[in-house]
Amino acid sequence: MSGGRVPDRKASTVPDSACVEFENVSYGKDGTPIIDRISFQFRERRVGIVGLNGSGKTTLARLVCGLIKPTGGRVVINGSNVTEDRRSALELVGMVFQNPDHQIIFPTVQEEIAFGLTQKGLRQSEANGRALEILDEFGRADWAERAIQTLSQGQRHLVCIMAVMAMRPSLLVLDEPFSGPDMPTVRQLHRQLDRLEVSQLLITHDLQYLEAFERVIWIDRGHIRKDGPAGSVLDEFSAEIDRLSDLDAFTDLTNQDTLSPHSTGD
Ligand SMILES: Nc1ncnc2c1ncn2[C@@H]1O[C@H](COP(=O)(O)OP(=O)(O)O)[C@@H](O)[C@H]1O
Ligand SMILES: [Mg+2]
Repeated sequence: MSGGRVPDRKASTVPDSACVEFENVSYGKDGTPIIDRISFQFRERRVGIVGLNGSGKTTLARLVCGLIKPTGGRVVINGSNVTEDRRSALELVGMVFQNPDHQIIFPTVQEEIAFGLTQKGLRQSEANGRALEILDEFGRADWAERAIQTLSQGQRHLVCIMAVMAMRPSLLVLDEPFSGPDMPTVRQLHRQLDRLEVSQLLITHDLQYLEAFERVIWIDRGHIRKDGPAGSVLDEFSAEIDRLSDLDAFTDLTNQDTLSPHSTGD
């Protein structure tokens, strides 16, 4: 994409899947490594990230989005270094946050969706039109004038997804996206995501949603513990969860120096 304009393209015909490359990427804070020399490359449409709390998943998501700068290595998406080229990062990557109320700032649905588009250079009238288009694509044309306040939390999550999709990203990054809504609503939201023809990187503890993914990466204390087809990675990760939950010591599992055979030396 160029010129800050959104190409006239239907959401159902999103281009080739994004190519995401981590080249020996590290991120540390105050001398403590949080992500430690990670390398991978993916082109799969749906990639899951799993790991215990504190293992570095959110940090990895922020690196993908170019929100933080690696202390070593490079993050490259579709050939662009997202740290150095912020404009490309904004064009390429859309992020869905955990709490929709942290993302939504406008009183009505259409205004919310149009806002990001005006930030990308569309005139207000074009942005309003594009917002209506995306609402229509999601079968929610009647939501345009709705006050966000009148929407349920699940519906507000959907507004966030529509607002991000209106920007035509190559990659959607979702970091434990739906913690608030009830389970049927969460399932509906995942079904909506499933239908989107955009590359997705999903961090979640709900392993059931990753079962159909092409690939899952297990992050353990800043390293890749396992990376491969969903079935085998999820099996091993689940076995590790079982093993840890069977332990008697109610240790802080996020800092399990003695619990895992995979010592990182940090
Ligand atoms: N800005 C920061 N400053 C210091 N420590 C951080 C910062 N961000 C993350 N961490 C630490 O890095 C580790 C990984 O955090 P995070 O990426 O949020 O893990 P996860 O999302 O897997 O729970 C945690 O121990 C966390 O406390
Ligand atoms: Mg996290």
